[in-house]
Amino acid sequence: MRSRTIISLALMLLFTVSGSAQTAKPFSIEGHRGSRGHLPENTIPSFIKAIEQGADTLELDLVVSKDGKLVVSHEPWFSSVISTDPKGNRITKESEREHNIFKMTYAEIRKYDVGSIGNEGFPDQKPMKVHKPLLDDVFKEIERYISKNKLPRVRYNIEIKSNPKEDNEFQPVPSVFAKLVYDAVLARKLEKQVIIQSFDPRPLQELRKMPVTLPLAFLTGSPTKTAAENLEWLGFVPDTYSPHFSLVNEELIKFCREKGMKIVPWTVNESADLERMKTFDLDGIITDYPDRAVRVFGK
Ligand code: G3P
Ligand code: CA
Repeated sequence: MRSRTIISLALMLLFTVSGSAQTAKPFSIEGHRGSRGHLPENTIPSFIKAIEQGADTLELDLVVSKDGKLVVSHEPWFSSVISTDPKGNRITKESEREHNIFKMTYAEIRKYDVGSIGNEGFPDQKPMKVHKPLLDDVFKEIERYISKNKLPRVRYNIEIKSNPKEDNEFQPVPSVFAKLVYDAVLARKLEKQVIIQSFDPRPLQELRKMPVTLPLAFLTGSPTKTAAENLEWLGFVPDTYSPHFSLVNEELIKFCREKGMKIVPWTVNESADLERMKTFDLDGIITDYPDRAVRVFGK
């Protein structure tokens, strides 16, 4: 009798475990600029680190060079926080916008170092001499790393850095920028592994017109605009709504669910904030510390 009870309990447990495994909703851990907490942002070593730490998605930023190449960089200039010029001089805050990537060839851009001085905001970041990579180099190197190490495929959450006030000064017009990104993704046959995100609705609107539909995410950090207002501004319902994490609440989640959008907040770094985010029904999290997110959310 006792053994029959034990067998029934074991079967119930097995059923529960396998049932929940089948129905568990995928949750994505996205390495912000790679693993910025540990290695220089938006660089190939940082992306590899993020994968090693358990990220399944690599968040990165894109700008465009004078010779029309997609460069992985948060600013369309060399930020004083992380950069030294080809002569080894630190870029100053006052002069950083003069080092305009949109007015430089990639051969010139490669000569700047964006890792040796570290990043004051990230004390655990290990400095290293490194340059800004091309998007295509990231695709090539990461896909090679994944296949060599027999790892599961990763996704790329690619942000188009575009400011409506800076067309033709710091970035091409949205139709040109969007086409460059679209062609780069299709050339590597990565259309099933990307999400394209932007704070600027215009490149997303351009991508929506393309023959192959890429998943799109709308970014917002505005505490004054409602999600409904943002969607009206955008003109369509994107696959993902990506708010600053301080904007996440039950009402916003309900709105996203009703609209059929995923919700993936940025950029959650502190353990207490990660824990708080865990209390919500999210689809993923963007973090500079994939290792911390894995500790909180599991892999
Ligand atoms: O993925 C969203 C997040 O990266 C947006 O903020 O300024 O770090 O690009 P930012
Ligand atoms: Ca970004």
